[in-house]
Amino acid sequence: MNLSKNHEPQQPMRRLFQYLKSYKKQLGFSMTYSIGNKILDLMPPLLVGWIVDTVSGSTPGWIIGLTGTKDPWSLALFISVMIVVIFGAESFFEWLYKRGFMRLAQDVQHDLRLDAYQRLQRREIAYFEKQRTGNLMAMLNGDVNQLERFLNTGFNDILQMAVLIIFAGITLWAASWEMALVGMAPIPILLIGSFYYQRAISPHYQNIRGAVGHLSNRLENNISGILVIKSFTAEDYEAKRVEEASAQYKKVNYGAIRLSAAFVPLIRMFIAVGLAVAMLMGAYWILNGYDKLTVGELTFFAMMIQRLLWPITRLGQIFDGYERASASARRVFGLMDSPNQIPDTPNPVQVVKANGHVQFNNVQFEYGNGLKILKGLNLNIPQGQTIGFAGTTGAGKTTLVKLLLRLYDVTGGSITVDGNDLRDFEKSNLRRQLALVSQDVYLFHGTVADNIAYGMENVTLKQIEQAAKQAQLHDFITSLPDAYQAMVGERGIKLSGGQRQRLSIARAILKDAPILILDEATSSVDTETERAIQENLNELTQGKTALIIAHRLSTIRQADQIAIIHEGKIAELGTHDELLDNQGIYADLWAVQTGDVRG
Ligand SMILES: Nc1ncnc2c1ncn2[C@@H]1O[C@H](COP(=O)(O)OP(=O)(O)O)[C@@H](O)[C@H]1O
Ligand SMILES: [Mg+2]
Repeated sequence: MNLSKNHEPQQPMRRLFQYLKSYKKQLGFSMTYSIGNKILDLMPPLLVGWIVDTVSGSTPGWIIGLTGTKDPWSLALFISVMIVVIFGAESFFEWLYKRGFMRLAQDVQHDLRLDAYQRLQRREIAYFEKQRTGNLMAMLNGDVNQLERFLNTGFNDILQMAVLIIFAGITLWAASWEMALVGMAPIPILLIGSFYYQRAISPHYQNIRGAVGHLSNRLENNISGILVIKSFTAEDYEAKRVEEASAQYKKVNYGAIRLSAAFVPLIRMFIAVGLAVAMLMGAYWILNGYDKLTVGELTFFAMMIQRLLWPITRLGQIFDGYERASASARRVFGLMDSPNQIPDTPNPVQVVKANGHVQFNNVQFEYGNGLKILKGLNLNIPQGQTIGFAGTTGAGKTTLVKLLLRLYDVTGGSITVDGNDLRDFEKSNLRRQLALVSQDVYLFHGTVADNIAYGMENVTLKQIEQAAKQAQLHDFITSLPDAYQAMVGERGIKLSGGQRQRLSIARAILKDAPILILDEATSSVDTETERAIQENLNELTQGKTALIIAHRLSTIRQADQIAIIHEGKIAELGTHDELLDNQGIYADLWAVQTGDVRG
């Protein structure tokens, strides 16, 4: 079973377009403006052709009909006014469609990112352990932005390209189908050339992206590891590694530049040949009095054929953009489609506040690497009891907590709260019954008060202070310049390990859940503070079921019962005195910690 495998979504681009559904009107308007803009944009060749014909005495009939005059000067004036009007309208449409598509792209990327983030956030912990953070970030940022770019410009490019080919094709054909054939003859070559070019250049771009990633990882690593770099005086070594990464980036760019700089000059030659032959044909007809073409039409033709051919060379690039968007869509929707491995049951039990009776029944667990961590663990924790856990590092104590929080599902046996299997709870409901103080405390960027009240609503400052007092953190906080409004976390005040733990304890106190879990929560505080917390522990655990995992056995000495986890099972269970009498693992650990090692 591969937990990290994402689904391959069917027709990813169609999924993207489904996001456009909520913006149908906006999309329709933007497309109309864009088509209007492109047609107006193609008017100058026609206008110039008409002007030329007008001054050379063969004014198109429809203009005479429209204006009712044959005076060339008036007609030229009329066409000039049209030029201004058309350019004005073209600009106005450009403003409208650009604004439309850009806003559309923003709306869709916003919806998409939010959807993706919410799905991601609900995924099980194991998923995050198997994905590299960089990859997930790349999906939420890079891929979503790629799709934004496509909707912003790529989609419109395709639309305008279609309008161009249809409009230019028809007007050229109408002017002279023979010349149109000759003039458009280079098109197949341009198409093949540009697709070939795209194929040739895309591995270079891939290399560039790889090199960028490598370089930025290097830089990021070094900046976050600056303390280690300095203390090991590894500056020269690291500078060399950065130099290597940067040189690699330069090298792959050179490769791409070599190709990209040659493309336009090469392609121009083909366009030139087609244009030259067509012009020669037109000139021959006019000079020899064939009544096929006016001078104005020849002018129109020369201008329009260029308008048509140059964008054709971009077709490969446009399709490449589409391919990239398609790949991004596949990744994003793949992420969104892959099912949660720890699903909520369709008919959950409804528990407002649990009593707190916890039972482990023959619990077996492995992390998916074949290593059995728990091998049939049985334990009954009656409501309101305080139970201490001890055992060597790696025995599986934290694992037990993770199972109780249902961050992972047991691979065998079951865990129940008040007799209900954890899998029958809604995960969010279950987790509201548990307050965890864990080994590593994550502080979010925000004020101390925000961090203590993290995830809780309608909490008064008074309650926060009360919790901080119980956690022995109040005095420290009031010593800060901004007290409870002091900023912590990234770019904020740095708290020591012990201070973080106390903050985390305050969080748990405030949460006031029926089941309290302390996982080595006092390992980083000094003995003095630990004693102070210890004295409050009775108060903290009052009326609650408490699971206290302790490195220092003195912390759990007073517990109602103490469990020793060893080789995936409960090896010893009893009160402090009972376990000492038992002369087993606990007694040994106790002796080591109190310095009373038996010979
Ligand atoms: N996410 C994980 N993936 C794989 N193995 C893990 C994971 N977390 C912990 N382990 C392994 O499970 C065992 C128990 O870990 P843990 O429950 O953290 O021990 P402790 O009793 O020290 O809290 C260890 O051998 C550890 O290496
Ligand atoms: Mg642990």
